[in-house]
Amino acid sequence: MTTRLAWVSARDARGRDADEPLAVPALQRAGIAVDVVVWDDPAVRWADYDRTVVRSTWDYAQRLGQFLTWLETVEQVTDLRNPSPMLRWNLDKRYLADLDRAGVPVTETTFMEPGDRPHFPVGDFVVKPAVGAGSRGVASYGPTQHDMARVHVRRLQKAGVSVLVQPLLSSVAIDGEWPLVFFAGRYSHAANKRVVLPRAGTIDDLFADETNAPHVADAEQIVVAQKAVDVVAARFGVPLYARVDLVRDDQGLPRVLELELVEPSLFLPQASADALGHFVAALGAG
Ligand SMILES: Nc1ncnc2c1ncn2[C@@H]1O[C@H](COP(=O)(O)OP(=O)(O)O)[C@@H](O)[C@H]1O
Ligand SMILES: [Mg+2]
Repeated sequence: MTTRLAWVSARDARGRDADEPLAVPALQRAGIAVDVVVWDDPAVRWADYDRTVVRSTWDYAQRLGQFLTWLETVEQVTDLRNPSPMLRWNLDKRYLADLDRAGVPVTETTFMEPGDRPHFPVGDFVVKPAVGAGSRGVASYGPTQHDMARVHVRRLQKAGVSVLVQPLLSSVAIDGEWPLVFFAGRYSHAANKRVVLPRAGTIDDLFADETNAPHVADAEQIVVAQKAVDVVAARFGVPLYARVDLVRDDQGLPRVLELELVEPSLFLPQASADALGHFVAALGAG
């Protein structure tokens, strides 16, 4: 049973984590003392917390080395959730290749390592860094924009970042994507999210503008998302929290766009009181 919990955020994320104002009071009502802390604040004494939960550390991608060191250090003295091997694996979108190998339907993806020649699919496509969140560094391009896309890929490669190229799924602009949230490995609730992705340009803020709405996931969506979560559970243990972002492919079938085990928003404002209860129970358990 957790009694003292660190809810870990980032300096620039303070006041922008929509889950926090719901979860923190609910945890306190459940008898768990919570501090909202900043991951790179040297004054935090991590050993004071029996559980440390990564939540809105949305600046980690820009300081990856420091964040990885922080994970290792903190894990020595407190029960870090999700645990650091799981987070490490999930910080790099090349995990999509592992999910694909495990039979999970994922968005069709080509991976380009630093040094690989950029090449693009027919039609519209998306370029994104393997390490990134909040749509930072993601842009879409059309068939006449290969020169610009090549500059984008090369810039990432030069910085030592692996690159993902995916066909642009037309349904994302129309229907958005569907985050499915899991607590303690079990499906809790879903939402619908629309992101405005820049054409041939990228986001500089902490995250792109989003419009969110509640969504009732259908059975087909839950099956696909659960499959992704089960792959994680088999490999690293059951994740305390997980979010699977599904999109619809051109055949109308659900595919995983992202699996988020590090710092996903959990769409608690769009969820029921039951969902909040499941989250609090998962945070307090064990
Ligand atoms: N293959 C794709 N087809 C259409 N839109 C995409 C595709 N990949 C990404 N996007 C858009 O870009 C946004 C950011 O990409 P995503 O893979 O979710 O990375 P991040 O980790 O930055 O959230 C998505 O929310 C979606 O709107
Ligand atoms: Mg995303």
